[in-house]
Amino acid sequence: MERTLSIIKPDGVERGLVGEVITRFEKAGIRIAAMKMRHLTKKEAEAFYAVHRERPFFDSLTTYMSSGPVVVMVLEGDQVIQKNREIMGATNPADAAPGTIRKDFALDVEKNTVHGSDAPETAQKEIAFFFSELEICS
Ligand code: PPS
Repeated sequence: MERTLSIIKPDGVERGLVGEVITRFEKAGIRIAAMKMRHLTKKEAEAFYAVHRERPFFDSLTTYMSSGPVVVMVLEGDQVIQKNREIMGATNPADAAPGTIRKDFALDVEKNTVHGSDAPETAQKEIAFFFSELEICS
């Protein structure tokens, strides 16, 4: 059993896509083990995306991620990191496969509706950024 962090980004929350995204996870057999809504400060967004701090889009991405509420979830299931990435689709919606969340809903490479951890170590760090072990219902 594996865990990953999922974020419904501000464009997803603002456009009323929370239920749609969760439905896709649940229909795929993924379990939601924890969930909360947060409006990140710019500093929190910068800390979360620290790995990208040298990238040219860092300021834009962290400004955007702190522009409105997000829904953060711990997803649980067999090979859930990979499964979630398949359901999300490629980062850039122009490259995303048909039937993926990003193909269906993303506006561009930044406002791409969802975030998902990319590897087990990242998942562990990203989950700990938002949740204590007590908040996760396995
Ligand atoms: S990379 O090159 O693989 O490290 O980048 P990637 O994983 O595709 O993207 C990391 C996050 O950065 C966002 N991103 C951007 N934001 C704004 N402008 C540009 N050009 C841009 N390129 C990538 C992208 O949405 C990813 O956000 P998360 O939340 O991690 O999915």
